[in-house]
Amino acid sequence: MSRKNPRTKKRKGQSKGKGKQKRRSQRTAATSDKHELYELSVQDTEAECEFIDQVWKERRKRFARRLREDFCGTAATSVEWVKRRKDNTAIGVDIDPTVLKWREAKLPDGLDPEQRKRLTLRQGDVRTVRTPRIECVLAMNFSYYLFKTREALRTYFKHVRSSLVNDGMFVLDAYGGSESFEELEEPRKVKGFTYVWDQHAYNPITGDALNYIHFRFPDGSQIKKAFEYDWRLWTLPELQELLTEAGFAKVTVYWEGTDEETEEGDGEFKPTTEGEACEGWIAYLVAEK
Ligand SMILES: C[S@@+](CC[C@H](N)C(=O)[O-])C[C@H]1O[C@@H](n2cnc3c(N)ncnc32)[C@H](O)[C@@H]1O
Repeated sequence: MSRKNPRTKKRKGQSKGKGKQKRRSQRTAATSDKHELYELSVQDTEAECEFIDQVWKERRKRFARRLREDFCGTAATSVEWVKRRKDNTAIGVDIDPTVLKWREAKLPDGLDPEQRKRLTLRQGDVRTVRTPRIECVLAMNFSYYLFKTREALRTYFKHVRSSLVNDGMFVLDAYGGSESFEELEEPRKVKGFTYVWDQHAYNPITGDALNYIHFRFPDGSQIKKAFEYDWRLWTLPELQELLTEAGFAKVTVYWEGTDEETEEGDGEFKPTTEGEACEGWIAYLVAEK
């Protein structure tokens, strides 16, 4: 299995609002909203929620209801979660008030008043935030890679564990593969603009990876460094060890299957202990309290 661009969960052929899109004038840097571009190019919140359901069905024989989305950014997954079932609740946590305000402003369009009541946006640090006991904590798009030492990451994992109900689960994603250690730029066309994943610098001594997202537009304008990620590139064995050290009873890696035609990831994730040494992969980890 291999993915051309590890920073995308969008499945092939999938486009939000297909067929319903209004005719719009050409996007330019000046008329674009970087958070909207991020959601369109990087996130697939439906697939994330489907994965959570899959894991809960497989491991707990029920669906989770109470979700906390750590590093929620625009809280797109929390929004999707409360829409998904009538008794679902979500708490999105982010340290940056501007992204939460961005979401607040959009809520009247995205959720009806009843759904809105089941969504809480909290400004706070995921290492210290206190929430009512949660069934499932989610940390997506590798956001926790910003904790660069084993100690810092273990402390965060411990805090997540303490936030969970007794049979709660923590779902997080990871990326890697031989190309993840390279300095490269990968442009990908999205409707109306180009998303560029820029693996700008990698230091093999510390494991530090400095990555950017840029957006380019048909008129030649661009939003350079729309997002910056100063990360440590963690590996799956390190993550499994740290989750175990943080007290999780069981940690499982879900590896993506291969589409036979394209030989790329097929969006189906299954538990396994044997992956493939491919150039680019994303995987999920499921840590059970
Ligand atoms: C890459 S975005 C993630 C957006 C979205 N959750 C996703 O899956 O694509 C990372 C977010 O983490 C937030 N963040 C960084 N450090 C944090 C911390 N210690 N506690 C809470 N949020 C934090 C940033 O403000 C940013 O919005």
